[in-house]
Amino acid sequence: MTPHLARDAKRVIKAVLTNQIAHFAPGAYIRLTGETGRGLGEESSGQAASYFRTCFDDYFAKLGVSPPDIRAFLTGKRILEYGPGDLPGVALLMVAHGAEAVVCVDRFPLMQLSEKNVAVIHDLLSSLGPEQRLRAESCFLHAADLAAGFHPDRIRYRIAPSGLSGLHDEIDLVLSRAVLEHVNDLPATFADMHTAMKHDAIAIHQVDLKSHGLHQTNPLDFLTWPEYLWRLMYSHKGVPNRLRITTYRSIIAQAGFDVIAIEPTLLAETADVRTVRPALATPFRQLTDEDLRCLGFWLICSKRAN
Ligand SMILES: C[S@@+](CC[C@H](N)C(=O)[O-])C[C@H]1O[C@@H](n2cnc3c(N)ncnc32)[C@H](O)[C@@H]1O
Repeated sequence: MTPHLARDAKRVIKAVLTNQIAHFAPGAYIRLTGETGRGLGEESSGQAASYFRTCFDDYFAKLGVSPPDIRAFLTGKRILEYGPGDLPGVALLMVAHGAEAVVCVDRFPLMQLSEKNVAVIHDLLSSLGPEQRLRAESCFLHAADLAAGFHPDRIRYRIAPSGLSGLHDEIDLVLSRAVLEHVNDLPATFADMHTAMKHDAIAIHQVDLKSHGLHQTNPLDFLTWPEYLWRLMYSHKGVPNRLRITTYRSIIAQAGFDVIAIEPTLLAETADVRTVRPALATPFRQLTDEDLRCLGFWLICSKRAN
């Protein structure tokens, strides 16, 4: 066996076994990997709080809502956030700035009110003005004991094995960041979103189509693994589902949405596409160079009028 083959065989065996742990004991798998949703690296509470503030600012920058108008935009809005990670920091900022309530739904039980995450919350609270801070404190069961948990009238955190909200016609704004590329059934997630949204609601998502560290020499070579092997190795771990922008476009249209904006955030080099093309797995062979190059995008969409 060549060193290359031996390395691949070892990787496949390890990945298939850990996929079974993730399938039958998702909680244990999360504890084992130390996953936060923001990666596995060490991060301070200040860095995590800054990340949430950046996410919050990015949503409004992309929606074209300037900072003085955020309060009016959010007032009375009910929000659905898919995949908040280990702390609903964005949800907290949304309520602080005027949203009525946020439902967070995740497929994995990542949320923890650990000492570090309570420090993140304190950092977020300390950056708010008095009125916003009072609103943010109303998100907790006890403002004096943040670790006691969130008040469900303000922030409801749900775990569903499918990651679906099950809501009907009650949401004004849907959000996600670095989530859709992980969902196991993207048509089901878009159908859930559509049912959850009111007729005039909008959805905004940032999607990361990179390999998440699962490529070797070319940023697109993770698209060479045959689909059955990729599923055997990763289907229960929430790693990228490998769907490309082409598939998103058709799922979005089939689910009954109009695209308001779809804007690439990162493009692979044309040379990388050319190098990887002869080895691509079946689902990716028919894609255009332009779609293969897309390594991430912002999507804003609304429900199509009947
Ligand atoms: C990379 S993390 C991003 C977390 C957070 N949005 C952030 O920006 O830090 C992906 C998140 O999506 C969640 N997730 C994976 N599959 C999901 C699904 N089908 N529905 C909802 N959330 C899902 C993961 O558990 C995790 O919380």
